[in-house]
Amino acid sequence: MIVSKKVSEISPSLTLEITAKAKKMKAEGISVIGFGAGEPDFNTPEYIINSAKKALDIGFTKYTPASGTVELKKAIVNKFLKDNGLVYDVNQIVVSSGAKSSLYHAICAIINDEDEVIIPSPYWLTYPELVNLAGGKCVFVECGAENSYKITAEQLKNAITNKTKCLILNSPNNPTGVVYSKEELVAIAKVCEEKGIFVISDEIYEKLIYENEVHVSIATLSDYMKEHTIVVNGVSKSYSMTGWRIGYLAAPLAIAKAISSMQSHTTSNPCSISQYASTTALEDEEGDKFIAKMQKVFDERRKYMYERLTKIPYIKPLQPKGAFYVFIDVSALYGKEFNGIKITGSLSFADAALQCGIALIPGVAFGEDKCIRLSYSISMEDIEEGLNRFENFVNKLNA
Ligand SMILES: Cc1ncc(COP(=O)(O)O)c(C=O)c1O
Repeated sequence: MIVSKKVSEISPSLTLEITAKAKKMKAEGISVIGFGAGEPDFNTPEYIINSAKKALDIGFTKYTPASGTVELKKAIVNKFLKDNGLVYDVNQIVVSSGAKSSLYHAICAIINDEDEVIIPSPYWLTYPELVNLAGGKCVFVECGAENSYKITAEQLKNAITNKTKCLILNSPNNPTGVVYSKEELVAIAKVCEEKGIFVISDEIYEKLIYENEVHVSIATLSDYMKEHTIVVNGVSKSYSMTGWRIGYLAAPLAIAKAISSMQSHTTSNPCSISQYASTTALEDEEGDKFIAKMQKVFDERRKYMYERLTKIPYIKPLQPKGAFYVFIDVSALYGKEFNGIKITGSLSFADAALQCGIALIPGVAFGEDKCIRLSYSISMEDIEEGLNRFENFVNKLNA
């Protein structure tokens, strides 16, 4: 075999597959509303773009330190202090080419072959692939709709063995849109401490949070957690900078140092221009204004979407409190037929929906075949039209 065993075992992205089908239909002149988006539909704010132009003008186009510029790391240290009450030294910060990279580095830094990594399911589809690539073993915990798909302390305790190294936690969550409360995190932290495990805490949707929810980083909950948590975050979602590829992590010093060394041989520094602009993104007061504006728009769409979805029979949407996704149990419709497609799970459901001009992500991609994910990172007009189509589709299934 030409391709290595490790790499050949990576699953192709189901999300990309659906998106490609939808694109093809659009190219053929068929109207498709895409509910698949995984990035904010806002332009990167002007003040950040201007900063990148300045970086080019002043020739900030060379290698930087592999783990990121001191200026950006200082801005990140300040962010952690201001937003999360977490105190880090600049040497504990590593900036990478996107949070995805930070996650991969974090996993590689603490996982030995066959170490078990607990992944609450449903999960963001990249986690298992990264754990497998790093040689670890995924242990999925089915969290269940009863607790809004959040892992409980009890479930965590039951999943831990003497091979467990860490838990991957994601709040606000993709794909479910749920947010862990402080009480839930305290209970989880207690188990982690009792059993001596690490947490990789993916907080990339921190700023997209609604109603009275408050984002709490598990690293703040005790000295043990601070010493055993790698916090991952980035500018992609908060500042609508997905294409700029800047993510970062904060970790205990020894881990941060190891990751810096690793990165110095794999990618070297992330793009110098993006780092310069990200420093401005985090430091300039325009940032908070932009986030507040974006959050307000997402919140309006979220409310509208959830309200409409709750009125559609047979489906059970989960009320989202963060990120920009609605996770919906559509399993009551399985067994129905549409245009010759027998709906047996979330994949065939997504295929049939596509025939009605709606692209959505099947839950099987996230480990939950009963559900689908709709993103509200599209215009209100598209949401309205898309939901009209969705409602018609569900009604036709039941006719
Ligand atoms: C839960 C989660 N973590 C991490 C990322 C990766 O972010 P980045 O674009 O900075 O690599 C995403 C992107 O979709 C995500 O949904």
